[in-house]
Amino acid sequence: MKVLNLGSLNIDKTYTVDHFAEAGETIQAIAYEEFCGGKGLNQSIALAKAGADVFHAGCVGQDGDVLLETLEKAGVKTELIRKNQELSGHAVIQVNRDGQNKIMIFGGANSYVTPEYIDQVLNHFNRGDMLLLQNEISNVSYALEQAKERGLTVAFNPSPISGSIGHYNLRRTDYFILNEVEGRKLADTHTEDAEEILLELRIKYPESVFVLTLGDKGSYYADASVMFYQEIFRTDVIDTTGAGDTFTGYFLAGIARGTSPQEAMKYASLASSLSVSRHGASPSIPDHSEVCRKMAKQIAH
Ligand code: RIB
Repeated sequence: MKVLNLGSLNIDKTYTVDHFAEAGETIQAIAYEEFCGGKGLNQSIALAKAGADVFHAGCVGQDGDVLLETLEKAGVKTELIRKNQELSGHAVIQVNRDGQNKIMIFGGANSYVTPEYIDQVLNHFNRGDMLLLQNEISNVSYALEQAKERGLTVAFNPSPISGSIGHYNLRRTDYFILNEVEGRKLADTHTEDAEEILLELRIKYPESVFVLTLGDKGSYYADASVMFYQEIFRTDVIDTTGAGDTFTGYFLAGIARGTSPQEAMKYASLASSLSVSRHGASPSIPDHSEVCRKMAKQIAH
């Protein structure tokens, strides 16, 4: 199965801070670094590192060569990516002393993904291939519908969640990978209880599979017949940026190669715990061999 990830590519401008700046407050950053990121790029790298055959599509600007090189180095195919006259998308990220982040994104080239381009890209894929989408590019809804028309399996990470998602036709989405906030919004509920969120989601989208990530509280898998919990693998938290993307890429790579949901969730959870133990989004994504070594140690204990 080929995986097409039609997603964002960003330059992450990352500031290490003692605490997040409050309204009206000026703070001094402790460090500044630039990384390759974007939920799309991060998830493609995680998929490739986990062994999937992944093609990234999306748009970069004239300054985007570094994004293409980073994807290629990780084993992602980049020939479908379009370069336009804009600046590449970027993110301004604060990471505080607890490793938590606050992210602001500017779409740039990511906002120029057109229906015509989506059609051209989809022409390279067939029934049974998988399309992965996040919510950081333009025309997501069009891509979702066209992919289903062509018989692709569709996975959607509705992040960042926005009001416009209410207008997407999500009924035919095969996999939703979402966090608590996104789960609550999509289910249209205020409950804090993860299982209740999943039950609501199952009523709304009875044919879909859900992966609900809860940060340091673990994650859940639910489909029409089964629901189970996956605990986290504890580690020192340095930077949580990209942890969810690592989880998504590792989970879907497992599903694409036919492993059980239980196995895919376990590997995804371990991979994301390795990613929070180091700096940056894409540079923090572990290789498959590292995840397997760590898993073997866990099993031995
Ligand atoms: O999920 C982390 C990512 O969100 C960052 O890399 C940033 O670019 C934003 O897209």
